[in-house]
Amino acid sequence: MSDRLRKIRSRLEAHDQAHVLSRADELSADQLEHLLDQIEQIDFEALDELIDRHVHHPDGSALPGELEPAPYFPEDMPEDEKARYRADGERLLREGRVAAFTVAGGQGTRLGWNGPKGTFPATPVTGKPLFRVFAEQILASQRKFGVTIPWYIMTSPINDADTRAFFLDNNCFGLDRKNLFLFPQGVMPSLDAKTGRILLSAKHEIAMNPNGHGGSIKALRDSGAIEDMAARGIEHISYFQVDNPLAKVIDPLFLGLHASAEESSGEMSSKMVAKTDPEEKVGVFCRSEGKTIVVEYSDLPEELARQTTDDGALRFLAGNIAIHLFGVPFIERLTAEKHRFGLPYHRALKKVPHIDVESGAPVDPAEPNAIKLESFVFDALPLAERSLVLETSRVEEFAPIKNADGRDSAASSHELQSERHARWLEASGVTVPRDQEGRPAARLEISPLTALDPGEIPAAELPEVIRPGAEIAI
Ligand code: UTP
Repeated sequence: MSDRLRKIRSRLEAHDQAHVLSRADELSADQLEHLLDQIEQIDFEALDELIDRHVHHPDGSALPGELEPAPYFPEDMPEDEKARYRADGERLLREGRVAAFTVAGGQGTRLGWNGPKGTFPATPVTGKPLFRVFAEQILASQRKFGVTIPWYIMTSPINDADTRAFFLDNNCFGLDRKNLFLFPQGVMPSLDAKTGRILLSAKHEIAMNPNGHGGSIKALRDSGAIEDMAARGIEHISYFQVDNPLAKVIDPLFLGLHASAEESSGEMSSKMVAKTDPEEKVGVFCRSEGKTIVVEYSDLPEELARQTTDDGALRFLAGNIAIHLFGVPFIERLTAEKHRFGLPYHRALKKVPHIDVESGAPVDPAEPNAIKLESFVFDALPLAERSLVLETSRVEEFAPIKNADGRDSAASSHELQSERHARWLEASGVTVPRDQEGRPAARLEISPLTALDPGEIPAAELPEVIRPGAEIAI
């Protein structure tokens, strides 16, 4: 041990991180071993560069020179085209070529829920947890297309055990365990925002944060998930985030476009919704040097964000809702040299509780004190040969739960979920009471097991009357 300790200590000294072991004398043998294991996982040469760029010289990200709005397939594209692509997607589904993939490794700090975000009660009437909402979609799609749809879920080392326990406690929501594949993503040390020093969450523990949803591409490879998919004959991966209960896990139209449209190389495709206003905090799909990219809202110059077309619509309209399709060969190509692939890191200034190494006292910061390094999955878009974007309706597919209250909270998500289901019921001839602003005056929830699409609600399930204030789950 002492030889190992000496070597690691001098490595830390060479990188100006010697404080990490400054309380080593107070640790038990197990604690010390745990800490040394953590240190050995860190690539200090790469970390030095990242600290230099993101802590000492943060200069915002450079915007590409020529920036155009990305073209997209509009929601109201001709019905015959839609039918053709939908049929292509359904064929892929029936042949068992499609897997579902949820990224659920985030820390959900803004929501403040004590547990993995996927366990959060998300629906407006029955309070179904997010994982159950997706599981029911998968069950219903399996039934509809007569096929197995394996489900891959990325966790993090921080929430992996709790996520697994939740699935087991809930009998995997009726899904066959053989078709569930949970795997943890990579982590990065959290850094003091002033000095770039690695933070410790305890005397024997480095404060680590998950390395962003962009870490999913490497994690798919490192975990063996991509080999598992190839062995099952999976060709396309339906990617969505755990915090959007309206995400359509399986969408034949999107699949067909991604796999067959000339505008797509079948590598990586995206869905967008029209931005509500220039200030809305979503990334925007753009085109630069012939490639589709996402420019983050904070990086899009205000002048561009406010530009309008002749008919008054925002010119940079296409908001990113983090729903993608990946081709399995694309992930295989990117990660062919297993250890070398990585998307660029971005800096996020966050609150990270830690200990003061001098005194050993815990510090619970009131203000953001740390830099977390995270990569973003949309940075993979320009690595695809040709990448298309499909417009979808916000009410149908985007009701994220990010915050404890206000915008993108459970309350705002409930309203959108009720609105979607009000429209589905109205399309089936049911009268839904609405308030003066036109919002449904009842809480409405339709299980994916009852209907995956508006036209599918069985007549026997339709409520005869909905009274204002009612809570209806079908
Ligand atoms: P967010 O960017 O909203 O982050 O994640 P978050 O961690 O959930 O929440 P905050 O910022 O701490 O409040 C968007 C999606 O990406 C996943 C999340 O689980 C969520 O589904 N994600 C994020 C990961 O899987 N890994 C990460 O490292 C970060």
